[in-house]
Amino acid sequence: MKKRLFVYGLCLLGLPSGLLAKGDKETLLYKDAKVPIEKRIDDLLSRMTLEEKVSQLNQYTLGRNNNANNVGDEVKNVPAEIGSLIYFNSDPALRNQVQHKAMEESRLGIPILFAHDVIHGFRTVYPISLGQACSWNPKLVEQACAVAAQESRMSGIDWTFSPMIDVARDGRWGRVAEGYGEDPYANAVFGVASVKGYQGENMADGKHVAACLKHFVGYGASEGGRDYVYTEVSPQTLWDTYLPPYEAGVKAGAATLMSSFNDLSGVPGSANHYTLTEILKQRWKHDGFVVSDWGAIEQLRSQGVAASKKEAAMKSFTAGVEMDMMNNCYNKYLAELVSEGKVSKTSLNDAVKRVLRVKFRLGLFDQPYTPVIADKDRILKSESVAVAKKLAEESIVLLKNGNNILPLTRFSRIAVVGPMAKNKEHLLGSWSAHGRPEDVTSIYDGLESEFKGKAKLSYAKGCDFDGADNAGFAEAATAAKEADVVVICLGEKRGWSGENASRSTLALPQIQEDLVQEIKKQGKPIILVLSSGRPLELNRLEPVSDAILEIWQPGIAGGIPLAGVISGKINPSGKLAMTFPYSTGQIPIYYNARQSARPHQGKYKDIQTTPLYEFAYGLSYTTYQYGDLKASATAVKRGQKLTVEIPVTNTGARDGAETVHWFISDPTCSISRPVKELKSFDKQLIKAGETRVFRFEVDPERDLSFTDGTGKRILESGDYYIIVKDKMLNINILD
Ligand code: BGC
Repeated sequence: MKKRLFVYGLCLLGLPSGLLAKGDKETLLYKDAKVPIEKRIDDLLSRMTLEEKVSQLNQYTLGRNNNANNVGDEVKNVPAEIGSLIYFNSDPALRNQVQHKAMEESRLGIPILFAHDVIHGFRTVYPISLGQACSWNPKLVEQACAVAAQESRMSGIDWTFSPMIDVARDGRWGRVAEGYGEDPYANAVFGVASVKGYQGENMADGKHVAACLKHFVGYGASEGGRDYVYTEVSPQTLWDTYLPPYEAGVKAGAATLMSSFNDLSGVPGSANHYTLTEILKQRWKHDGFVVSDWGAIEQLRSQGVAASKKEAAMKSFTAGVEMDMMNNCYNKYLAELVSEGKVSKTSLNDAVKRVLRVKFRLGLFDQPYTPVIADKDRILKSESVAVAKKLAEESIVLLKNGNNILPLTRFSRIAVVGPMAKNKEHLLGSWSAHGRPEDVTSIYDGLESEFKGKAKLSYAKGCDFDGADNAGFAEAATAAKEADVVVICLGEKRGWSGENASRSTLALPQIQEDLVQEIKKQGKPIILVLSSGRPLELNRLEPVSDAILEIWQPGIAGGIPLAGVISGKINPSGKLAMTFPYSTGQIPIYYNARQSARPHQGKYKDIQTTPLYEFAYGLSYTTYQYGDLKASATAVKRGQKLTVEIPVTNTGARDGAETVHWFISDPTCSISRPVKELKSFDKQLIKAGETRVFRFEVDPERDLSFTDGTGKRILESGDYYIIVKDKMLNINILD
């Protein structure tokens, strides 16, 4: 105690903290776990030199980089003072070695923050986010993220660059795979679920990690679906479409955000004072920090808003980016910028405090090392694998089931055909962290064990994912000829979606389409199974397929849940979180478009104007009948709430889980609004013959209002509609 008082005394006298640091580390205030975090931060900050502060704001890499878009050099000599490392390894021992260096060789013993892209699982890889959203089961998504967090933290990772909550409406953009689809509300709900799963109640409990909302903001609006390019986002659209998921994620306590690559109507996301400071820090009061995307600061030069790396550092930092990911801009120029007065000491201190705050909240000062435990106790635990399987199961969307051909209960010879049938790697999807193909069950293997003793399976690959080699068609045709039904497994390689994976068309390569046409000649029923990281163009495949199942990139569960759906053990319940256009030329096409001046005209002359499969579409093996919408009141005053409900009866012969999507529509408003907007959803198990009542509590201020281009919410009086499927109910907000 005396010693601590002595330390305080010297600080008050303004003596250089360096004099104290070495021998006194154990007794310093910031080292004391009983002291409130803000006091610990202030104490530590008061001891830091300018260089030490700047070091905290940099992130390097350690280990093999498995992101082909960011092939960076391994940093051999990690400085003991570095703020953060992207950790490409999965060995806690290596992390501890580096952490020891930071704790013991740096003057103040500040722990390093270890980060990684754990996007849909660490080793227990579960479906890509776009697939997760189709489950409409945020609780399950939260559980999956908790699994990812536990595996990560126990393997030496404290921070994941996830969730991606960029609303995305152009399937040509490869990164649609990484987000939760085209709807702002869905992105908000699933973003919050992942933040909760990753961070838990207490990020310091050794099983959770810090989340990172990315990419702030508007990245999903990439022109033409081309990655990294300009985005045109009006203030109105920024507020009503792109910001809401972030606001929800910040409210849910997300520790960090990542600034985006895109140029947002002239001001890049990584140099945007309005979004990063005025909105995020001032309005939303976020007290964690923002990391730049990889190289996004130095890229301000390519975007033409900075002439040098130094200017880029200044623009990014003063806009509100606290940590530099792999740009070498802050480490080189930030101290200089502070000395020259171009960056204020106050803002530097604020940035450092934000980074330290996250480190304290993660408990890193008190428990800097990762306990080294056996693999079986940290990865691929049976309960974790069960969550991954369940989520993969609920993500599957049954798009077509002509003559109720599925489930396959009456066929004894099944041909399994196509390049995806025995592939394991591509089912993992992009960003699969430490996922391994050998952990994945292929579609063929899943079907084989499911149909053991019930049907005989044959196999032919038919063709590759692309190219023009059709030499395997004959074998596939023979397999089809000798079978009663053909399961054709097509789709995208894992690298065809994700970052830097734009495509000009949503159609599968010609060779895959040709394979289906060839098989069709055999006259056998076709079950088309698709694994992809984006919605696909299916207008030529749909008419020749009897049934279509989209399984996305399901992760390690691979073909197991699909096999259960095909056999009938599992009743599919997924519904689309992103529209499947009729053809690529329809893009952009999304359900919540604004109203047209001539709804009856302006149609395409060459193709249908409606999409092939719309948002929220998905079939089941049972049937549901929706009753009438009822409201507790049809007219309410401002400040009052009302409840609407709808009974849903399972009229089929088997149990099923049904998701009810609650939309609202404002037919007349002072600004034009989307045709309809999702405001709530709920998934419930309904037993055969049972009726369940789904309820939605409408809070007009929250659910019926709109935001203007400054973020101000406005509720106008007048008529609104509540919409569920084809049911509509008029309600009125009184003056
Ligand atoms: C991606 C981010 C990712 C980062 C780190 C970037 O290229 O855009 O989403 O988190 O790399 O790997």
